[in-house]
Amino acid sequence: MNIVVGITGGIAAYKAPELVRLLAKAGHEVRCAATEHALQFTTRVTLETVSRNPLYCDLFASGGTEHISLKDWADLLVVAPATANIIGKVASGVADDALSTLLLAMPPERVLLAPAMNSQMWSHPVVQRNIEVLKGWGIRTIGPAVGELACGTNGPGRMAEPEEIAACVARLSTANCQLSAQRWLVTAGPTYEKIDSVRFIGNYSSGKMGFALAEALAEAGADVELVAGPTALKTANPKVKLTRVESAREMYAAATALFPQCRGAILSAAVADYRPAEQADHKLKKQGDEGMTLRLVQNPDILATLGGMKTDGQTLVGFALETDHELENAQGKLQRKNLDYIVLNSLRDQGAGFGVDTNKVTILSRNGSSKESPLMSKRDIARLIVNTIAS
Ligand code: CTP
Repeated sequence: MNIVVGITGGIAAYKAPELVRLLAKAGHEVRCAATEHALQFTTRVTLETVSRNPLYCDLFASGGTEHISLKDWADLLVVAPATANIIGKVASGVADDALSTLLLAMPPERVLLAPAMNSQMWSHPVVQRNIEVLKGWGIRTIGPAVGELACGTNGPGRMAEPEEIAACVARLSTANCQLSAQRWLVTAGPTYEKIDSVRFIGNYSSGKMGFALAEALAEAGADVELVAGPTALKTANPKVKLTRVESAREMYAAATALFPQCRGAILSAAVADYRPAEQADHKLKKQGDEGMTLRLVQNPDILATLGGMKTDGQTLVGFALETDHELENAQGKLQRKNLDYIVLNSLRDQGAGFGVDTNKVTILSRNGSSKESPLMSKRDIARLIVNTIAS
């Protein structure tokens, strides 16, 4: 790939030459673009030597249109480190130097930012708001990590290490467009099983993993049918078509209708296995001291049904949440439900599971291979899963 590494004025800029070296070593053609402040922490000579290309630093040096020719040349713009200042500029459309002008010219889906700053700056509402705005446009971010900071404190704000950024770039370059012209189905979120007109049985699933999977499939070129149970999450991605459902039976109806037109499906929803046998259309009254019994009946198993419908050209991926004999149970589920892959969720690791933004998984395939992830953001886990099935 042709990659521009953008460097802004934070102490982590001293690590940028190492990132450039790793990307060049991986076979990418690299050019650097730096702000004036970045050159307080690293030098023009260093960046030009490791990239073997002239540095882009002055908006007007070669006629004032270099940001456009660099935009046309670059497959990816990686800004590492990305300060609060550059994040704010991009979020507000400010283009007052070479790098910020290039950032405004680049399509958002071709930009990766590695934020780095003091923890308090990182947690400031305006920085968090700006990051959300950028993500909403499709700009990707990596980090920041938690750790020791240059100001002597400890906390979130450390730039992701150059090796991690290079690994993220490698994943992006392989996943890119492997699934173009394919239609994929994703289920996400919890289901609500109605007890009466005001109560339901639900679960803690947030839908974050499923939405991240839909975005990752779209990034890889697929058109996505996302069937989601009740969740506050939204998607603005034009390649993701969202169908909202409430109960397991509604999710079953939507998924089984869509699956025959899809190249594959990833079922990440936390579907209720049971629903109340009777669902009152009014509010049930208290039953007094003797308590109350709810009779539950089994819901249809969407994953097993799709496993039965699956044709040779289709790929089916399920999730498993196990507490004992994890690998054995997940393998059993993979065989029983006729899956191609099963993603085993870890409940043992802190930071993995329901509600949080991170996860740790093991991806088992039908042919017996397995891949274990570190604790990563759900976005990166989603890309890892998509990359695995796409290759
Ligand atoms: N799933 C589904 N429909 C259901 C229940 C589960 O599609 N009615 C899917 C989930 O989306 C997930 C996978 O099945 O991909 C794993 O569900 P899980 O509850 O762990 O597995 P079960 O087969 O229900 O087995 P058990 O509860 O016995 O572990």
